Amino acid sequence: MKLSTLLINQNLTVRDVMVRMNDFCLDTVFVVDCENTLVGVITDGDLRRKLLKGHGLDDALSEVMNKNYTAASINDERSDVLSLRKDGIKSIPLLDEFQKVLGCIGQEVDEYIPIYNTSFEGNELLYLTDCIKKSWVSSAGEYVKKFEQKFSEFTGLNDCISTSSGSTALELAISLCNLKKNDEIIAPDLTFASPINSAIRSNSIVKLVDVDRDTMCINTNLLLDKITNKTKVIIVVNLYGYPVDILQLRKNIPSHIKIIEDCAESLGSFRNNKHSGYYSDFATFSFYGNKTITTGEGGMLFCSNDLKKGEAKILRDHGMNPKKRYWHDQVGFNFRMTNLQGALGLAQMENIEKVLRRKKRVFQKYKDLMIPFGFSFNADEALDVENSRWLVTTTHEKIENYGVEKLEYQLKLLGIDIRKVFYPLSSMPIYKSYKKGIYPNSSYLNKSYICLPSSPNLTSENIEIIVDKILMLLGLHNG
Ligand SMILES: Cc1ncc(COP(=O)(O)O)c(C=O)c1O
Repeated sequence: MKLSTLLINQNLTVRDVMVRMNDFCLDTVFVVDCENTLVGVITDGDLRRKLLKGHGLDDALSEVMNKNYTAASINDERSDVLSLRKDGIKSIPLLDEFQKVLGCIGQEVDEYIPIYNTSFEGNELLYLTDCIKKSWVSSAGEYVKKFEQKFSEFTGLNDCISTSSGSTALELAISLCNLKKNDEIIAPDLTFASPINSAIRSNSIVKLVDVDRDTMCINTNLLLDKITNKTKVIIVVNLYGYPVDILQLRKNIPSHIKIIEDCAESLGSFRNNKHSGYYSDFATFSFYGNKTITTGEGGMLFCSNDLKKGEAKILRDHGMNPKKRYWHDQVGFNFRMTNLQGALGLAQMENIEKVLRRKKRVFQKYKDLMIPFGFSFNADEALDVENSRWLVTTTHEKIENYGVEKLEYQLKLLGIDIRKVFYPLSSMPIYKSYKKGIYPNSSYLNKSYICLPSSPNLTSENIEIIVDKILMLLGLHNG
C-alpha cells in the first residue's frame, strides 16, 4: 500500500476521511500537516464514536482526530515496537527523527524473518534418533560415509571428505599444499574471514586482491598482476553463490599454482553443468546453520588428486596411520565430522533439489518486486551459469546515502533480518599488513549492497512484506 494512501491532510473533512477509508478498506489513517508531520490518528472506531456524539460529515479532521496517538520511532528497539503491538494497536505510525511519517506498522512485524532458516522436513529426526539408539554419536558410524557419498553424487566431485566445519576444510586444503615460509597465497579482499585466517596460519605471505563489482568475487585481472614466482596458492571464494570461472583462470596462471575454491556459499551453483569446485585442486564447503544445507557445524573437502585425498583423511584423523592405531606419521588435526552431523547432512542432501528449486523462486520473486523500483541484482544470470543465490544481494542508488547499517538496524526493528555485505578484509586493522594497494570495489560493495533474507521456505507474502518495508524506509513508494 502506498504511504500516501494512509496519510490525510489535516485541513480535510470527516467526509473526506470516510471516503478514503471506504475506498481502500482502511481501519486507520494518519493525519499530517503539509510536511507530512504527524498531527493525529483516526481509526474507524474513533469516527463511529464521534459521529454518534453528534459530529457531522463536514467537520474538520482536527475536531475528530486522536491527538494522543501511539507511534513508534525509527530509533526504537524492536522490543519497544513489540510491546506497542501487545497493547492491541492494529496500525502504528512509524516516525522519523522529525516526526514525519515513514510508514505503518501492523501485525506483520510480530513475525521475525531471519536472514536464513534451514528447514528440516525430511529424515533428519529419524536418522538422528537412529544414531542415538545405536550409540553411534562420534565420528565412527554409517552416516558420515553415506553423507559423503550422497554429497559426491550430487556435486559430481568424487570422494569428498567430510570435516568438522568449512574452516577446518580450508585449513586441511592449505596444509595439503605443503607451503614453505615466503611462499605466497593470493586471496580476495571481500569474503568471510576463514580463508585469510587459514592462509595466515600457514606462515605464508598473504596478498589480498580486490573483487569484481558485478560478481563480487576475486577480480581475475588484478589477481594476475599479483602473481610472482613465489605464488603457490590462489584462494577463490564463490561469494553469495556465484561460481567463479576456474577454467578461464587456469588458462592464465602458471600450472604449478594450486587453486583452492571456497564453495562454502556455492552449494548448488554450476558453470557449464559442472558443480562449483569441479575444476579446482581443492574445493571446500560449509554446512554451518545458515548454509544451503546444514549439519549444525560441518564441512566438506574435495581434492582433485587421489594421493591428496588419502593424505587429507590421515591429517583429519590426528595424522594417525590408518593401518596402525595410535601410530602417528604426521602432525595431524582432529577435523572429523560426527555421525550425528552425518545423519543430519544425509537427510538434508536428500532434499537438496527441492531446496534449490525453492531458492530460485525466492530470487525470482525479489526480482519481480524490486526491479520496477530501480533495484539491481549483481551477476544476473549468464547462460552458462547456475547461481544458487545462497544469499540474494541487491542494491539501489539510494542505499549508499541512506546507509546500509541504518537500513539494517531499522529493518531489524521491523522484524526483518537483512545483512550488509562483508567488510573488506583490508579495512580491518588485524589484516592491515596483507593490504597491497587499494580496494575500491570491495569498499563500494560493502557500502551499497544488502543481503536479503533468502531462506528456501520464505513465502510470497514474506517476500512482499520484506520488499514493502525496504521501499518504505528508502522512501520509494511515497507517491
Ligand atoms: C566464504 C566462507 N568461507 C568459509 C566459511 C566458514 O565455514 P564454517 O563456518 O563452516 O567454518 C564461511 C562461513 O561460514 C564462508 O561464508
